[in-house]
Amino acid sequence: MTTPLRLGIAGLGTVGTGVVRIIQNHAGLLAARSGRTITISAVSARSKGKDRGVKLDAYAWEDDPVALAQRDDVDVFVEVIGGSEGPAKLSTEAAIAASKDVVTANKALLALHGQELAEAAEAQGLLIRFEAAVAGGIPAIKALTEGLAGNEITRVMGVMNGTCNYILTRMESAGLPYETVFEEARALGYLEADPNLDVGGIDAGHKLSLLSAIAFGTRVDFANVELEGIGAISIEDIRQAADMGFRIKLLGVAQMTGRGLEQRMSPCLVPASSPLGQLQGGTNMVVLEGDSVGQIVLRGAGAGSGPTASAVISDVIDIARGNRLSTFGQPARTLRAARAAKAAVPAPYYLRMQLIDKPGALAKVARVLGDGGISIDRMRQYGHEDTTAPVLIVTHKTTRSALDEALEGFSATGVVAAPTVAIRIEAV
Ligand code: HSE
Repeated sequence: MTTPLRLGIAGLGTVGTGVVRIIQNHAGLLAARSGRTITISAVSARSKGKDRGVKLDAYAWEDDPVALAQRDDVDVFVEVIGGSEGPAKLSTEAAIAASKDVVTANKALLALHGQELAEAAEAQGLLIRFEAAVAGGIPAIKALTEGLAGNEITRVMGVMNGTCNYILTRMESAGLPYETVFEEARALGYLEADPNLDVGGIDAGHKLSLLSAIAFGTRVDFANVELEGIGAISIEDIRQAADMGFRIKLLGVAQMTGRGLEQRMSPCLVPASSPLGQLQGGTNMVVLEGDSVGQIVLRGAGAGSGPTASAVISDVIDIARGNRLSTFGQPARTLRAARAAKAAVPAPYYLRMQLIDKPGALAKVARVLGDGGISIDRMRQYGHEDTTAPVLIVTHKTTRSALDEALEGFSATGVVAAPTVAIRIEAV
């Protein structure tokens, strides 16, 4: 057997301790599969004395992750600190400068700085691997970079924030409003320290931008992911979407269109019977479509100690085996800068409006849609509430810009009593 592969682990939270546990519990299995023993030389975290439920006394301790990254007895720097700036970025840069391969679970770091970090690493023949950064335990990066490497990727989709999926499915199953379920999620410890990372779609948007880079050979472009969170989704929309055979998901979609790269992370309606529609609780799903393979669906835990550590270890094993893949599946300097196309692909939309109950109200709304070239597919009016009535419309395919014009046009009709909710229906 060749020399051991020696890790330095920066960050001993949920993921870091999960990594330590797998290395301690599966030493023989990892060695057999890698052809090398995998050892931990040193670890680093904010507080040394804390009981983390794993034995750490065999490893050297560094208070500073930068010092950990520079140690001579570390071959691979495992960054599981988190955050796009500060210690995570500094220590990753230090690891590259010290000629170490890097394994990271940090989606924010790579979404914002992945291009320059990958170029710096690759210029020295080093690796940055990040299976754990996207959809936790689901091997989505491996599927794209290796399993589907012979395909032109046509579309990437995913529910990649378990907290949002938990909130949306719990709202539906318990009939509870957003605010109540948000507080439940907070009490259960599901929310990030900054909850907007979850419910604002940012965390999932980071993940989508990384998948896009691999799928389309483009530079990571998080700035052009159209982001819309789930904070405005009401229990009425969830109920009424269900009534029409749909579920609302925070869905990421990336596709290359004639007008450029479209990347969206937003609430969408999907058929309740589809795999995405069936996805319950905190689970993630990644859907990949290629010209030869067709569609594949990957489903599993998107967060948590075991699943995320499982993904970190798969990268470590790849390095131990000598599987030296470029960060984004092709050299970072060969990635193209894509033109960003905002919601270029037409889609049907769900509209929920509150109409004033007077003769001709519906006709006025229908005229605005008709004048904008938007055709109605289905329509329902529910019981009157005092002087207004909720009306649901499902349109045929239209562009977002035509829809936005129609939404503006509604205000001039004098019959629309509240802002209209418009949610895209994604063909999945
Ligand atoms: N907060 C994320 C989620 C996990 O709820 O899926 C880390 O990206």
